[in-house]
Amino acid sequence: MQSELRTKLLKAFSEANGEFLSGQKLSEHIGCSRTAVWKHIEELRKEGYELEAVRRLGYRITKKPDKISENEIQLGLKTKMMGRHIHFEQTVTSTQKIAQTLVTEGALEGTIVVADQQTHGRGRMSRAWYSPSGTGIWMSMIIRPNIPIQSTPQLTLLTAVAVVQAIEEETSLIPEIKWPNDILINGKKVVGILTEIQAEADQVHSVIIGPGINVNQKLEDFPEELQKIATSIRIETGKKWERSLFIQTILLKFERLYFLYLAEGFRPVKLLWESYAISLNKDIVARTLNGSVEGKAIGINDQGVLLIETSDGSIKEIYSADIDIKK
Ligand code: BTN
Repeated sequence: MQSELRTKLLKAFSEANGEFLSGQKLSEHIGCSRTAVWKHIEELRKEGYELEAVRRLGYRITKKPDKISENEIQLGLKTKMMGRHIHFEQTVTSTQKIAQTLVTEGALEGTIVVADQQTHGRGRMSRAWYSPSGTGIWMSMIIRPNIPIQSTPQLTLLTAVAVVQAIEEETSLIPEIKWPNDILINGKKVVGILTEIQAEADQVHSVIIGPGINVNQKLEDFPEELQKIATSIRIETGKKWERSLFIQTILLKFERLYFLYLAEGFRPVKLLWESYAISLNKDIVARTLNGSVEGKAIGINDQGVLLIETSDGSIKEIYSADIDIKK
């Protein structure tokens, strides 16, 4: 199907919000005959859309295929800035890498990079991030906040809150955050977030925030070593989800929090983050690249840095670590 007509047709259905649209209305809207509308609808069906046709009422979309593309993300997106420029590719090495190139080419704030599959998905602490095709959200968001370098961990925490809010809104799940950025459901990891900054002296030029979200994997889709520690929204809810819908909701939640952060600072975000955090007031072990720190997680400071009170009563600041919560 010609992509412009397809976009118009999908836009008309998206604006109708699940209501029926008559063949006549559709033909006027997209500027072609009713027979052509019918042919386009058949094409959509072949692409995996489910459409209901009722005499005298017309057509409506009852189910979209779980396909992510620039169009699917754009239609129905309610943000002002986030996702207004979308760079979509079927397969990439890492969306973070593509975003880095776009940043050097002057990409606008709010630009996102989304891929269906990553061959070299990157995790925190130089780990690999498993990113197969057709199941997850592999996305990098470019922002250009005017903040000092030491404040950038706040943005990872802000993103974690936005993703939790999006999952809560779309599903009945209650996710929790394990400092700094792991989102868990029933104790298993469903989301990881990688934040990378481009800065000079003390000034941040841009920040690339990459959430990786396990959406439609079944347990057996994960490699064996991940099956005990990872989960997906599908595993937890028992049904498949439309990834583009999640992307839209994440972008909206992120944008709202980000604008709030720019206007009022970290405090309101910190309060929200603390309300979702499971690691606070627990005895934990923080495994950093320079060794382990054991003690009680007493909170995060105004920079978003984790504070641990050790057995000798001293307070240690943890910038980057893996956290184990002691039973
Ligand atoms: C973690 O280790 O928990 C962070 C994982 C972050 C994975 C995401 S997927 C989208 C973006 N592109 C990458 O290569 N990594 C991040």
